[in-house]
Amino acid sequence: MLTNWDDPIAGIRQAKRENTVPPQSVLEQTLADLSAAEAAALPAPEATNPAFAAGDAQGGITGLEEVEFGAGRISVDDKQMINCRADLNQLVPFKYKWAWQKYLDACANHWMPQEINMTADIALWKNPDGLSEDERTIIKRNLGFFSSADSLVANNLVLAVYRHITNPECRQYLLRQAFEEALHTHAYQYCVESLGLDQAEVFNMYREIPSIHDKAAWAMRFTQSLGDPTFHTGTPAADQRLLRDLIAFYIVFEGIFFYVGFVQVLSMGRRNKMTGCAEQFQYILRDESMHMNFGIDVINQIKIENPHLWTADFQQEIIVMLREAVELETRYAYDTMPRGVLGLNANMFEEYLKFICDRRCAQIGLSEQYSGANNPFPWMSELMDLNKEKNFFETRVTEYQTGGVLNWD
Ligand SMILES: [Fe+2]
Ligand SMILES: [Fe+2]
Repeated sequence: MLTNWDDPIAGIRQAKRENTVPPQSVLEQTLADLSAAEAAALPAPEATNPAFAAGDAQGGITGLEEVEFGAGRISVDDKQMINCRADLNQLVPFKYKWAWQKYLDACANHWMPQEINMTADIALWKNPDGLSEDERTIIKRNLGFFSSADSLVANNLVLAVYRHITNPECRQYLLRQAFEEALHTHAYQYCVESLGLDQAEVFNMYREIPSIHDKAAWAMRFTQSLGDPTFHTGTPAADQRLLRDLIAFYIVFEGIFFYVGFVQVLSMGRRNKMTGCAEQFQYILRDESMHMNFGIDVINQIKIENPHLWTADFQQEIIVMLREAVELETRYAYDTMPRGVLGLNANMFEEYLKFICDRRCAQIGLSEQYSGANNPFPWMSELMDLNKEKNFFETRVTEYQTGGVLNWD
């Protein structure tokens, strides 16, 4: 389509008819210039854009509806996690204070990949005797998996999940999470570039290495389902579809599929190898554990507000998903670690995955599937709770926190 930007009023009329949005400054100026009669002659938005009409017909609103002048003020009780009918463009009053707190906590833990010193990693990687082939495989495979996995998570958030979570404070956290996923992809790219790895090889692993491909392909069907532009929540089947996608991404993808890689790379750091990469992974692990906890809170809140969705059949379906995930991630463990290395072996990961799967089950109210599984890596939980200024690998000692509360006293 062609929009005539020389004539802003004609341009905005055409853009409105064709559901395209001109740059904000043009839009604002044009609206300000429209006479009341001209504005009244514009077609109603629901006549031209099915998304506006859909908000009325089914599911919740999106936040893109017309601003209703003089509408009643919203109260906390109007707010809902999904299918909400109250204005989504007003952050306050808060209903889910935990979501706002997680947003504040995430901002207070801001970090950037370039701040981490990669010098020792570069020297070790370039030294032919620096690392064994098995250790090199661990680094390359994990960079291969994570470099596309975090893009997948970001796309799922922005293109699939965001539209259907009808709560402003949760959306605020989702926006922060989306930025963190961009930082994570940046961190992996930074490791690849620092070590001088073959970028095409690493970034194509999710299409070329079966154990990596299988995890990405498993997740893709859940995001594709929600990303369908004709999909709307508002029926029990559709709301279950959303809940299933949230569990697939927050509990399985970020809560199970990341954990073999985290343990492997962090184990190298504990042995004073690839400490820069390990530090990047340590900060990412801390972010990811917060993403998962946010997801668990959202899932449980949807369950509280919509108990009819949590049927026995649905629970069984989720259990099947979780068991599949444990199998896929176990296969990934064997693939990345065919022999024991760094005091680790694939059997330990099998036990670990059963242990964390049981924890995830308990966190969303499902029965444990592998009762009696133990945690072979208790040090992992210490790493997740670490303050940034007390760096585990001690590659630097820097007080680093932003976004803290200002004290005027
Ligand atoms: Fe991430
Ligand atoms: Fe994440």
